[in-house]
Amino acid sequence: YPIIIQRGALHRANTHFDLQRKVLVVTDSGVPAAYAKAVADRCSEPVVVTLPQGEGSKTIRNFEALCRTMLENGFTRADCVVAVGGGMVGDLAGFAAASFMRGIDFYNIPTTVLSQVDSSIGGKVAIDMDGIKNCVGAFYQPKAVLIDPDVLKTLPARQMANGLAEVAKMAVTFDEDLLALLEAGHPMDRIEEIILAALKIKAAVVAADEKESGLRRVLNFGHTI
Ligand code: GLY
Repeated sequence: YPIIIQRGALHRANTHFDLQRKVLVVTDSGVPAAYAKAVADRCSEPVVVTLPQGEGSKTIRNFEALCRTMLENGFTRADCVVAVGGGMVGDLAGFAAASFMRGIDFYNIPTTVLSQVDSSIGGKVAIDMDGIKNCVGAFYQPKAVLIDPDVLKTLPARQMANGLAEVAKMAVTFDEDLLALLEAGHPMDRIEEIILAALKIKAAVVAADEKESGLRRVLNFGHTI
């Protein structure tokens, strides 16, 4: 599926996604509301759901709420879900898209460095249950992923570091040149190059082992810590 990396693309989502239908736009309270609005403004029939920020929202209750919202608004298999946020939003919205009517189109607009370089591609969608992360979910690939580096301007420094740590992990495991690029300093000045390099690693691993029967486990290196 296409992965578009383009500054300002958030405001042109309709040129990359088919939004001329009912669209469930899922976001969270930590994401500037203007981002989901920019997407909703380009949909013919948007329904925006804003969840509380944080992993605590990745619950069966919120999964049910998203499915119910789609039912109440008459969504059919021809409609779609767009995630605008970090990994939590993508995982939950993606799982709702994977399950509603046995699967409707899912688009992802990741808004953190971490979700731009990791969770937005590869098709892992899930919720947490009984304190166990991602224990109910699916492999469900998005129709397309839109990465707009401009949205990182509002990201707190801690979240920036969190994402770059994931890039460092990918560089250490796969790409000496990417590691040198990080070590040169000022990574945010070259963030598009960094995102692209990290995504190439992720895409190659997922293409080789989509369902994590072996190689893909390397992507989890460091996650438990
Ligand atoms: N985030 C690890 C993976 O996608 O496999």
